Amino acid sequence: MQMIRLLYISTARAPLLSAELDGILRVSRRNNRAVGVTGLLVVGGRRFLQALEGPEAAVVATFERIRADPRHFAVVILGRSTITERQFGDWSMGYQPGAALGVEASVAADVQALIAPIDDPVVHAYFHQFALQHAA
Ligand SMILES: Cc1cc2nc3c(=O)[nH]c(=O)nc-3n(C[C@H](O)[C@H](O)[C@H](O)COP(=O)(O)O)c2cc1C
Repeated sequence: MQMIRLLYISTARAPLLSAELDGILRVSRRNNRAVGVTGLLVVGGRRFLQALEGPEAAVVATFERIRADPRHFAVVILGRSTITERQFGDWSMGYQPGAALGVEASVAADVQALIAPIDDPVVHAYFHQFALQHAA
């Protein structure tokens, strides 16, 4: 079965409360585990950067559901590629809270640690830049 990785960015309609983010993560981890999707979600202010990877059909179905979620908008795909190995295999959905939770000073360092094992240079660069932008 062909695997793909999809990377997108989006903007929350309104700043999300941490309880709402917790809810999204709980549902995401349950759903993703059931269909073999893994990934990483980084939140910086109202911006989301998320990577989804796994069997193509599962990633596409998951992404179409996420794209239709009214809690965010301006969903833009930054990259989609066929992969042979996962980069986020340990996480049904890894998560790094950003400025929304008031820990902005440590976001860059925390994201650097999370993305250190990512060997796809494009994916790595997007997360790196995102962390820098939301660190101030
Ligand atoms: C930024 C963002 C990221 C999300 N990521 C996922 C995800 O990785 N997997 C998932 O199943 N749902 C994710 N969701 C939630 C979906 O949009 C949708 O609410 C959910 O999949 C519905 O699941 P349910 O039918 O089991 O209630 C995300 C939502 C947002 C706003």
